Amino acid sequence: MRHYWLLLGACGWVLLILIIFTKLFNFRSVDDYGRRIIGQSGTVPVTKMVKPVLVSSSDKPTPKPPASPTVAPTEAAWQSVIDKRIQLLSAVCKNGSLTNLTHVSINKFVLDRIFVCDKHRILFCQTPKVGNTQWKKVLIVLNGAFSTVEDIPENLVHDHEKNGLPRLSSFTPQEITHRLSTYFKFFIVRDPFERHISAFKDKFVKNPRFEPWYKHDIAPAIIRKYRKNQRNSDLTASGLHFEDFVRYLGDAEGRRRMDRQFGEHIIHWVTYAELCAPCEIHYSVVGHHETLEKDAPYILKAANIDQLVSYPAIPPGITHYNRTKVEHYFSGISKRDIKRLYERYQGDFQLFGYQSPDFLLNKTINDPKNIKSSQHL
Ligand SMILES: *[C@@H]1O[C@H](CO)[C@@H](O)[C@H](O)[C@H]1NC(C)=O
Ligand SMILES: *[C@@H]1O[C@H](CO)[C@@H](O)[C@H](O)[C@H]1NC(C)=O
Ligand SMILES: *[C@@H]1O[C@H](CO)[C@@H](O)[C@H](O)[C@H]1NC(C)=O
Ligand SMILES: *[C@@H]1O[C@H](CO)[C@@H](O)[C@H](O)[C@H]1NC(C)=O
Repeated sequence: MRHYWLLLGACGWVLLILIIFTKLFNFRSVDDYGRRIIGQSGTVPVTKMVKPVLVSSSDKPTPKPPASPTVAPTEAAWQSVIDKRIQLLSAVCKNGSLTNLTHVSINKFVLDRIFVCDKHRILFCQTPKVGNTQWKKVLIVLNGAFSTVEDIPENLVHDHEKNGLPRLSSFTPQEITHRLSTYFKFFIVRDPFERHISAFKDKFVKNPRFEPWYKHDIAPAIIRKYRKNQRNSDLTASGLHFEDFVRYLGDAEGRRRMDRQFGEHIIHWVTYAELCAPCEIHYSVVGHHETLEKDAPYILKAANIDQLVSYPAIPPGITHYNRTKVEHYFSGISKRDIKRLYERYQGDFQLFGYQSPDFLLNKTINDPKNIKSSQHL
């Protein structure tokens, strides 16, 4: 009898310790979020915030709760948002006057962007700065090369020879066709102008030490070709200005040769149409960075992996479109350059239902730069 009570007591202690441990662990991940948010004030790429947490098999609700006969109202509403996106996408793909901006061939560049999870029959097209690293980690774990997201060494996340997450381009034509026509396919987009601001800040302002080529090779090439009022001395000393970058991006024809030289790095600013061929490949879901809080769980569920992986809450407001920021960055850019940029990226704006940035083009007062530049028009 005494043994029985001792055993019971021991079990109680183990349980208590487990509970405390769980609490501590949760608390720490919240703290991680907090520090990151404070440290980088609202401009954190979602890749760093969305931390997938693997649900260990023991956490799985063992007898799966019976599916409720009626879908929750919010879920049904979100389903209709997703459906509308796909409807809009296919409607815009049919618009002949946008063909040059929306249609691309499914070439090697596109196949290189798409990652394959055969085990769960998922294809994921990578579009930078919208949480890709985390999605890739999730798929690497699902493919089975590593058992948790934390186990994946950082330098392996993008090493597709070794991380067990192959590119679609590594398959034979028949294997590619089969996967494209039968797998669950998704990618994530965000407002094109905010995307450019994000790429500019990340690649040319912050310029991480391990990506020196943006500052040393790409920036000087853009400056030489696109900076107005060039003086011979110190042309590149102050670094790339957002204005230079916008002029380069908006130069549809002129930048082709440069882009070939820049190689894969252009993935940070070429159109989503060029990255993922959304008019040629019939994607199941197009997620929006601005609504990632709803899209991420939706995608996990739609891909039938929500029982295996989950996302902690994304801090509110972080992924939302920030018009003040866009106005700030474009306030010194001439209307002509903004118009060109919009024309070049109009396909993305329309395919994914983003508002055209009229508010940047109709501004007339206050800013002397705008008055001056509007005289050029
Ligand atoms: C096609 O796109 C053009 C350019 O954005 C737009 O003016 C036109 O209304 C669109 N046509 C249809 C049928 O949606
Ligand atoms: C598309 O591009 C081709 C070649 O660059 C050009 O001839 C054609 O006029 C363009 N079409 C539209 C609708 O802009
Ligand atoms: C929007 O951007 C501006 C300028 O970069 C910044 O000061 C502001 O805090 C941002 N707002 C939100 C809600 O993140
Ligand atoms: C901007 O101007 C155009 C025409 O010049 C007009 O159609 C549009 O409604 C204006 N947009 C805003 C946000 O004022």
